[in-house]
Amino acid sequence: MIRIDKFLGNMGIGTRTEVQRMIRRGEVLVNGQAVRLPKEKIAEETDIVTVNGAPVAYRRHIYLMMNKPAGYVTATVDNLYPTVIELLDDPIVASKVMPAGRLDVDTEGFVFLTSDGALNHFVTGPKNHIRKTYYAEVEGVLGESDREAFESGIQLDDGYVTKPGKLEITKSAEISKCFVTISEGKFHQVKRMFLSLGKKVVYLKRIRMGNLDLDPRLEPGESRELTEDELALIKEER
Ligand code: URA
Repeated sequence: MIRIDKFLGNMGIGTRTEVQRMIRRGEVLVNGQAVRLPKEKIAEETDIVTVNGAPVAYRRHIYLMMNKPAGYVTATVDNLYPTVIELLDDPIVASKVMPAGRLDVDTEGFVFLTSDGALNHFVTGPKNHIRKTYYAEVEGVLGESDREAFESGIQLDDGYVTKPGKLEITKSAEISKCFVTISEGKFHQVKRMFLSLGKKVVYLKRIRMGNLDLDPRLEPGESRELTEDELALIKEER
């Protein structure tokens, strides 16, 4: 049994405050009866829940989008830094999910966390080419030759030549600003791609995975459940 407001939150219907409002307005029915109190409990696997007439399917797994702050590691345990898991306020959720892929400790932005091991594997699998887009600030002037270098693939310090990426320059100056899209996830990849071009990344934030944008309403450290549609966008190739 689970509280109806928590269930709706977990299924990605809205924030806890939003779903409580829906409940109070009588928009939520359980087995055909309006529920009025957010604390009412339901049997999530068997009760039939609708919101404004639309059924809410029960999902066994948890799918979260987090806006990672700098200073946190994308891991479940670490002996040096706090982990992204420690940012989750629900201990049950925290015990079930794992981050899919890694961001460096000083990188901010979109981290996808899930209890679904197969999907975690899919999202991080190099063969699946899930695109990741980053906003980067870089020391030094960026130009057409840098854009072309990203487009053809860049040789890293260990000799590996990256797959083609996309560099979109929005400001070229002493500190340049740009968006970078890559479909691999080698260790420190974006920083090392720029290093090969003689430039140092001074700020990095992941803003998109697949076709899903990081929700700009999420403050650093906050996370929220994904809807089915959003989940599909992460997996979308193009
Ligand atoms: N590339 C990097 O260099 N760091 C990250 O955290 C992600 C991509």
